[in-house]
Amino acid sequence: MTRVLILGANGGLARHTTRMFLKNTDATLTLYLRRASRLQNPDPKRARIVDGDVLDAAALVAVMKDQDVVYANLAGDMKSQADAIINAMQAAGLGRLIFISSMGIYGEVPGERYRSVLDPYRDSAVAIEASNLDYTILRPGWFTQERGRGSRITQKGEPFQGHDVSLDGLSDLIVKLCTTPGLHIRQSLGVSNG
Ligand SMILES: NC(=O)c1ccc[n+]([C@@H]2O[C@H](COP(=O)([O-])OP(=O)(O)OC[C@H]3O[C@@H](n4cnc5c(N)ncnc54)[C@H](OP(=O)(O)O)[C@@H]3O)[C@@H](O)[C@H]2O)c1
Repeated sequence: MTRVLILGANGGLARHTTRMFLKNTDATLTLYLRRASRLQNPDPKRARIVDGDVLDAAALVAVMKDQDVVYANLAGDMKSQADAIINAMQAAGLGRLIFISSMGIYGEVPGERYRSVLDPYRDSAVAIEASNLDYTILRPGWFTQERGRGSRITQKGEPFQGHDVSLDGLSDLIVKLCTTPGLHIRQSLGVSNG
């Protein structure tokens, strides 16, 4: 039974993935978010909700106690968030991190130039790749609502394939990464529709 800490648990992708964890695995979840009263506990037997900001170092180390995997589903000041996560994981003795980024951070999407809008995603990936964590960075395409669609991955250094990814396909990959030890360790993966 894997214990998963979800950071930014009120995000759209995080809520979709939470439902998939509860439906398809026996993982227990800690849902960490700001203004936690916004989120209803989807399964009080397997999930607990913790109010907190990722930039609150003490709260982040505390919530990492007795976890196996950290799944970061954040936005905004991603570089500061990544630094805070790396420091807290090292302090808590945790190794496994799944970090949601975006397609385009390496200029890998043919015909697309995203420039500064992706700087926080780029800078956070650089910090994570320089850490000693067992990370997997995910670089998804645009989210769509198509049901039951799988995903395909491209490695760092390869051109990104396609443009979109269904939330179903992306959440399925996140769940597999969190619950399968050793899968895609220290890799940065482009994720698009299969
Ligand atoms: N939508 C797309 O097509 C697409 C494509 C590629 C990549 N992405 C990226 O994938 C990521 C996840 O997507 P999403 O749709 O789940 O994003 P989202 O709905 O914007 O969720 C991001 C979450 O991060 C939380 N957050 C930000 N700063 C925080 C902090 N300091 N402490 C705690 N929580 C914090 C936000 O919480 P608050 O509600 O408290 O602000 C929000 O709930 C985003 O970075 C997004 O840009 C999206």
